[in-house]
Amino acid sequence: MDPRIDALLRGQQEYYDARAAEYDEWWTRQGRYARGAEVDAQWFREQAVLYAALDQLDLSGHVLELACGTGNWTLPLSHRAARLTAVDGSLEMLRLNRARVLSDRVTYVQADLFAWEPAEAYDAAVFCFWLSHVPEERLDPFLAKVRRAVRPGGAVFFADSSPDPLGTSTDQPLSDGDGTVMTRRLNDGRQFRIVKRYDEPRTLTERFAACGLELEIRRTGRFFIFGAGRSTTS
Ligand SMILES: C[S@@+](CC[C@H](N)C(=O)[O-])C[C@H]1O[C@@H](n2cnc3c(N)ncnc32)[C@H](O)[C@@H]1O
Repeated sequence: MDPRIDALLRGQQEYYDARAAEYDEWWTRQGRYARGAEVDAQWFREQAVLYAALDQLDLSGHVLELACGTGNWTLPLSHRAARLTAVDGSLEMLRLNRARVLSDRVTYVQADLFAWEPAEAYDAAVFCFWLSHVPEERLDPFLAKVRRAVRPGGAVFFADSSPDPLGTSTDQPLSDGDGTVMTRRLNDGRQFRIVKRYDEPRTLTERFAACGLELEIRRTGRFFIFGAGRSTTS
């Protein structure tokens, strides 16, 4: 393992822990993330496409959500799953999520996803706005982990960012140069370096398939990429 990557990933987790209280400003286009009525309306239309794609999947059994954050996906998942296990590395994210979702069907787990191993084969797995934070060299091991976490034929869904400058805040570029790391700022000015990568749908489709995950991966238009499908049965 590369110690520089480990340090970057620790900093990335610290960033999300520190950002937890202001995290939803991005999803709801508040403050530094507001980009004007027209652009924000498109953002919300494309968000609706993501939620509609999630609605198409069978999420009826024990569902696993990785990097659950403040609950933007935990909430709808909690209405559909018989049971939901939601994993995140940040205690503050988990606290906000629990307070928002208020469901006794959800079990929360604090864990580093690069070290975490599934304790069982779930009926479905969902991970939103997480894949782009996985370094290239950890992508295949992560996808193999998802494969181990989902029973054969179980549903898999992810959503993530497309590389559009209007998708992030007004005061940060998409990346620091090599297209894989970016500097993020909090409202109080603190800065963190994190992984942020934008894989093409075709590349991702092949990487998923090589790990036994058959997903159809598409863009919503401008802001998002998403994939929906199944863990293979063989
Ligand atoms: C971009 S947020 C996505 C949150 C949520 N899925 C959503 O779409 O709103 C990324 C999440 O990954 C979590 N995270 C970052 N590094 C992690 C790690 N190594 N292990 C587990 N969770 C991690 C953060 O705490 C944060 O909640």
